[in-house]
Amino acid sequence: MADGLRLRKIHHVELWVGNAKQAAYYYRRAFGFSQVAYRGPETGCRDRCSYALEQGTARLVLTTPLHPDSQEAEHVRKHGDSVRDIAFEVDDAAQAFEITLARGAEAAWPPAESRDEHGVVRRAAIRAYGDTVHSLIGVRDYRGPFLPGFVAAPALAGEDAGLLRIDHMVGNVELGKMNEWAGWYSRVLGFERYMSFDDKDISTEYSALMSIVMSDDSHSVKFPINEPAPGPRKSQIQEYLEFHHGPGVQHIALQSRDILHTVRTMRRNGVEFLYVPASYYDALEARVGGIEEPVEAVRELGILVDRDHEGYLLQLFTKPVEDRPTLFFEIIQRHGSRGFGKGNFKALFEAIEAEQARRGNL
Ligand code: FE2
Repeated sequence: MADGLRLRKIHHVELWVGNAKQAAYYYRRAFGFSQVAYRGPETGCRDRCSYALEQGTARLVLTTPLHPDSQEAEHVRKHGDSVRDIAFEVDDAAQAFEITLARGAEAAWPPAESRDEHGVVRRAAIRAYGDTVHSLIGVRDYRGPFLPGFVAAPALAGEDAGLLRIDHMVGNVELGKMNEWAGWYSRVLGFERYMSFDDKDISTEYSALMSIVMSDDSHSVKFPINEPAPGPRKSQIQEYLEFHHGPGVQHIALQSRDILHTVRTMRRNGVEFLYVPASYYDALEARVGGIEEPVEAVRELGILVDRDHEGYLLQLFTKPVEDRPTLFFEIIQRHGSRGFGKGNFKALFEAIEAEQARRGNL
């Protein structure tokens, strides 16, 4: 099914935010992204400003509307700073749009061409969960710094934190909607169900969630989808849905080539990570066996480790990156494991709940 569509990769992820200039500074200074392109009034874009940032192959676009009466302004009012678009690179945007619509997708906008002196880009978009969309972008005939309308200057380099690419992006949907959206990714985008976790895997004393991971054929794009599971206290997914005012992207996982360097750099630059209790490390070696990284450094930086039959992974989660308890980031380094750190779910969720309780939302 996927072959007609030919999703190449994630082209970029666009966030609609309240102040893109300051958000760009944060992702440069704290996460080590570099600014590669800009559009705004100076470049002829009268109604919004966008900053395109890059580290490895991961690209973020931060956009702020300049006027109150716009779709962007309404999105920011309702959701706060939030992911709007997970844009896919495709061979042929018009064909990809037709195929996805024939498979039941809802159009966000029809194919359109934009061009500048560097060439032409064809782009359409379909609606996903909540107010999230997937752009389908054909860039074969384009050689510019980012997309038409953007200019390369001013280029501002961040302190590279060793981030390589987007590993996966997780969506939170309402109770009872997870299977519906998993079905959508499989039917419309040709993804396969890759793994699933239920509330027995992902539960603590108070709260639970259920999750399905959809993946494309190459396993290069993975989209776990969570829904809250009923429990004695409020699920972290429910807290997200209440503060985001609907479904949306819960976290973006970025792959690191050296997680010790990444987390050390990001901590030094002011990024807050979830606190992992010291007791987590008492049983670590018994649980995961030997790892290449010095265990003392892993413990000192508060990094989580998990092993499965294919290998192991190291991961750590930031606290939410805005005032609402909504979007956060994961840093992940894989040594063979293609999983998501199932062995860490319990320790991790207890850490999330400690934060939730501090916000009065548990
Ligand atoms: Fe994740």
